[in-house]
Formats: sequence, structure tokens, C-alpha cells
Amino acid sequence: MKALITGASSGIGEELAKIMAADGHSLILVARREEKLEFLATKLTQKYSVPVKFFKADLTNIQDREKLIEFSKTEGVDTLINNAGFGIAGRFAQTNLEKNLEMIELNISALVHLTRALVPGMIAKGDGRILNVASIAAFVPGAYMSVYYATKAFVHSHTVALSEELAGTGVTISGLYPGPTVTEFNQVAGVQGLDAFRKNMFMDAATVADIGYRGMQRGQLLILPGYKNKLIAALTKVLPVKVQARLIKIANGKRVEAAALHQS
Ligand SMILES: NC(=O)c1ccc[n+]([C@@H]2O[C@H](COP(=O)([O-])OP(=O)(O)OC[C@H]3O[C@@H](n4cnc5c(N)ncnc54)[C@H](OP(=O)(O)O)[C@@H]3O)[C@@H](O)[C@H]2O)c1
Repeated sequence: MKALITGASSGIGEELAKIMAADGHSLILVARREEKLEFLATKLTQKYSVPVKFFKADLTNIQDREKLIEFSKTEGVDTLINNAGFGIAGRFAQTNLEKNLEMIELNISALVHLTRALVPGMIAKGDGRILNVASIAAFVPGAYMSVYYATKAFVHSHTVALSEELAGTGVTISGLYPGPTVTEFNQVAGVQGLDAFRKNMFMDAATVADIGYRGMQRGQLLILPGYKNKLIAALTKVLPVKVQARLIKIANGKRVEAAALHQS
């Protein structure tokens, strides 16, 4: 059992690495911050006596992705966890274009690239698991984080469609749909200062990772951690899309204002 986890240097990816090493998986940890990966790999190898390797890669860079794919094929990866991702908060017209394009490259293109490269080997072996970390944002249009929400809608649609193509091959694909989770995500997205306002909505990364891991192992297609996220997902099936969009605009507007206040 060898799993590749992208975005393993912090948050949900780091917690998935801990859970999977404890469960006996050999791992390849991927992110840009090499020192964090090295520290985690050493700790997990010592604690659980499983081989944990790391690979420094900027997944927005095609050459880095190709080197990673070559390495993964040599290593014989049978579990792919597409977890690396980030968001951008703010009015779309004022956000940085380069950053938006980088986000699409990471949240969508890197996921498609790694999956397309590794899934044929899994199908040939008749065995493999893929876990795509989407978000509850996948189910709704999200004003003030519109591109991020749309990247996750892509991940959701692709995951569900691919599960149909993979049926009967021995390869399973799962989507994990976290809501607000305590990680570095909000700081990276530019919504720090928010946690105090919506603390009761947040789940901890270890719980989300645990639910995600167990769901993936069962081959569950849609993995929604926590009853609040299940409720939100259910509401998106009954509320008209304009109403959903307006509610998210109000909620995200408060987040962006709170962050601006915090930063001023
Ligand atoms: N936290 C939430 O509230 C929340 C909610 C729903 C969904 N999610 C999703 O959960 C996933 C994990 O995020 P998180 O919450 O755990 O946030 P996080 O703590 O910020 O972790 C993001 C991970 O992605 C890596 N990463 C970022 N840019 C990268 C790049 N260009 N190349 C390679 N790796 C890169 C980061 O490592 P380096 O910086 O070292 O590269 C880090 O390991 C994301 O897909 C996110 O969209 C999060």
C-alpha cells in the first residue's frame, strides 16, 4: 500500500498522513515547504516504522508535476490523495488575476494531471483508491470567493462522473467535502480574524481527515464530514440557486469585511 498525498505539509493533508502512517501505509508526501515535509516524514517513519518519503513540488508547475509522476510510477503508488488547494477571498474585480489562475492550476489542473497519469496503472492492476478533497463550496455559487467555489464544483463534477467510468475496475474514487476547518486555509485565503466569529462552524483537521480516510477506504463516493455540512448539502438540493447565492454572498461578505477589519 503506497499513498501519495498532495498538500501534506499542513492542515488536512498532514492529518491524513498521520492517520495513514498509523494504519500501515507507505507514503509519499508532497508540497512546496520541504523542511516541513522532511520533519513529518522523519517523525512518522520513526513512530510507525513505515517508509515515508517526501517530494518537494510546486504543483502549479507542469515540470514539477511531471517529475512527481515519474517518481510515483517508479514507487508504485496505489492510492492518490489530491488534497493541495487554496482559496482567494475578495471582490472578484479586485482580486489578483495571476493568483486566480494559479488557484485554477492547482485546484483543477494538477488534480486532473496527476489522476490522468496514475489512474491507468491502477486500472491495469485492478486496484486503487483516489480521494479528491473538494469542499462544501462545491455545491453552491460563492460570491466573494467565486473562483474558489467554482474550482471545487469542477472537482465534484469530475469525481462523480469518473466514479461511473471506474465502476467495476477495482479502482474507487471518493470526494471529501469539508466545511470550515481549522488549518492554514483561511490565512492563505485572506480571511484571518474570522475564526472567532464563526468558531462553532469549524471542525478540526484531524477529525475531517479521519472521516475522509475511513470513507475512502470504504470506497464511499461522497464524504461529508459533520452534520452541519450534511445539512448544508441537503439545503442546496431544495433552495433555488439564486437564494443560495444570496445567502452565501451575505455570509462571505461578512467574512471578507471581518478580515479587512482585522487587517486594518
Ligand atoms: N480549511 C478549510 O476550511 C477547508 C474547507 C473545505 C475544503 N478545504 C480544502 O482542503 C484542502 C487542504 O487545505 P487545508 O485546509 O488543509 O489548508 P492548508 O493548511 O493551507 O493546506 C494546504 C496544503 O496545500 C499545499 N499547497 C499549496 N499550494 C501548493 C502548490 N502550489 N504546490 C504544492 N502544494 C501546495 C500546502 O503546502 P505548501 O504551502 O508547503 O506548498 C499545504 O500543504 C484544500 O484543497 C482546500 O481547498 C479546506
